Amino acid sequence: LPDRRNFVTIPAPTDVHAAWLPEEAFRPVGTRRTLVLADGLLAETVRAEVAAACARYGGSVRQQAGGGEFDLVLALSTAEQPVEVAPGECGAEGFALAHRDGVTVVVADEPAGLLYGLFHVVRLGESAFGAERPVEWHRPATPRRMLGHWDNVDPHPVMGQVERGYAGGSIFWRDGGPRGDLARVRAYARLLAACGVNAVGVNNVNVHATEAHLLTDRLGDVAAIADVLRPYGIAVHLSVNFAAPIALGGLPTADPLDADVRTWWARTTEQVYAAIPDFGGYVVKADSEGQPGPFAYGRTHADGANMLADALAPHGGVVCWRAFVYNHRQDWRDRSTDRARAAYDHFAPLDGRFRDNAILQVKHGPMDFQTREPVSPMIAAMPSTALAVELQVTQEYTGQQRHVCYLPAMWSEVLGFRPWGRDGRSVADVAAGGGLVAVSNAGDDPYWTGHPLAQANLYAFGRLAWAPRLDPAAVLDEWIGLTFAAGDPERLRGPLHAMMDGSWRTYERYTAPLGVGFMVRPGHHYGPDVDGYEYTPWGTYHFADRDGVGVDRTRASGTGFTGQYPEPWSEVYESLEECPDELLLFFHHVPYGHVLHDGSTVIQHIYDTHFQGAEEAEQTRLLWEKLAGAVDPALHARVRERLDEQVRCAGEWRDQVNAYFFRKSGVPDARGRRIP
Ligand code: GCU
Repeated sequence: LPDRRNFVTIPAPTDVHAAWLPEEAFRPVGTRRTLVLADGLLAETVRAEVAAACARYGGSVRQQAGGGEFDLVLALSTAEQPVEVAPGECGAEGFALAHRDGVTVVVADEPAGLLYGLFHVVRLGESAFGAERPVEWHRPATPRRMLGHWDNVDPHPVMGQVERGYAGGSIFWRDGGPRGDLARVRAYARLLAACGVNAVGVNNVNVHATEAHLLTDRLGDVAAIADVLRPYGIAVHLSVNFAAPIALGGLPTADPLDADVRTWWARTTEQVYAAIPDFGGYVVKADSEGQPGPFAYGRTHADGANMLADALAPHGGVVCWRAFVYNHRQDWRDRSTDRARAAYDHFAPLDGRFRDNAILQVKHGPMDFQTREPVSPMIAAMPSTALAVELQVTQEYTGQQRHVCYLPAMWSEVLGFRPWGRDGRSVADVAAGGGLVAVSNAGDDPYWTGHPLAQANLYAFGRLAWAPRLDPAAVLDEWIGLTFAAGDPERLRGPLHAMMDGSWRTYERYTAPLGVGFMVRPGHHYGPDVDGYEYTPWGTYHFADRDGVGVDRTRASGTGFTGQYPEPWSEVYESLEECPDELLLFFHHVPYGHVLHDGSTVIQHIYDTHFQGAEEAEQTRLLWEKLAGAVDPALHARVRERLDEQVRCAGEWRDQVNAYFFRKSGVPDARGRRIP
């Protein structure tokens, strides 16, 4: 593997926030005597992390057991270690943790497990060294816990350096080339490892001309990033352009069944592995929103994915093939075309035809990362295909890191959803086979994420990818304890929970109602525009008229989308009586007077939730104001400025949505509040 000098010599950056790894969080480890019994790159990382903490706080770190006492032992399961953990019990990345006779012990089969174990000890703080602790096991739910960066090398004329990025520029790229700021990349790698992420895609899924070259003549730029991520157990992935054989290889076609095309991919992939031996694989967005794909050659997406899978297989790589395929040039007059149906219609018939190392990457909902969507029926439709579930940490449709919106509340619902009913497997169970992937919200902003509180979403994504059943509030608790370790986390816990635990629902209240989605400004997707997408080709309609609103996706009278679900959901969503209120307008077109399960009418629900949501945004700001003096003033000011914008924008949403539906329906607010 490439040398390790980068890692050892890169200093910590001074111009970025420490996020969930402030020095103070390492005090409990740094004041103690640690033994690390392992060799290899990641074991060196463990030693270097402990040594850095000890240099600050006076502890010690050794790599040989003889003649000394230790408070913390991190050992491979093959070493002689104080608890009985047999080799093979932990798995590639897992670890066992115990506290016995005054010694905290972490055992793992591989150094990666020791690294995750160390960060877990950091997370536990002093309590890791307290009472006796029987052996507990920590194994990741899925082997692939990946963040995709929609970063462009050349700033895109419309999308900029980072597509849907709300945290400044790219960590990796600037103005057409690598940033070369490896200190920042290293700091990012540490943060990711500390929450359990082990894979990163370094460029946008929309692969434009310059970025296509990362695969060939600019591969060195990717290798340099890989060198810095590697010591933290993070594998680099690359988004590639399906037409690369034409654009880069000079071939007349990119047909996946053409022998020359297949050879080109095989050779190119060989070169990738020569430069990056632990390269993770390719990410492909094909036949989607203008990207090239196999349809141009009359081939299926299985043909396309399998060609790349075959090129990657000899090297142990995977292709993450995105299922986000739909007609973005549809005629809004045509009520029979339903964008929600598209992924299933394209892919479900191909189940069983993908190679083992082809992973179908499915957005969690059938549309596009809306604030509220049902779980995609794709997740239950392809039992013989490895599926990865894709989430969006970057807040494209959820306030763009200007609004507080703690997303794990949503993700946890998604991951716990059981597409086959109560006794069937959950979404997390399905994702265990392929992975959990998310679009990153990090950029070169000093706070990483624009809104400092949006760091919690990044942290929580990693934690839920590792352990999907974790309670979002408990994860937030961890984040608060780590992030504010140098201050007074106890003082912050109450207010931050009050601001963040329910913030996704608050955001939902003042934006598009009852699962109908969109209603955002076209293009950039920030702020309200109820009819913004109504007469466009994007397939994102709400069909509001004077009598009612919502999309009829029933089999009985609508697009038939409900039929893509297995029972019981195909019946639950089909039924006006049983359909959950929060998804009512996703599945049904109803009159404004339709009565919800809580007894309210649809129109009154719209008014009530919009007044309530905007009011909650103001309460959130008040809570934060009271924390002046309890957190770093610059961080306080940054959040405060964002909250001012959130309050303004929430008021705008409230007034536009309420006014729109009042004007359409003519139904006054039962509580007589002012609707402009
Ligand atoms: C959304 C987003 C695009 C992105 C696309 C995708 O449509 O607005 O910017 O390219 O998702 O996931 O590919």
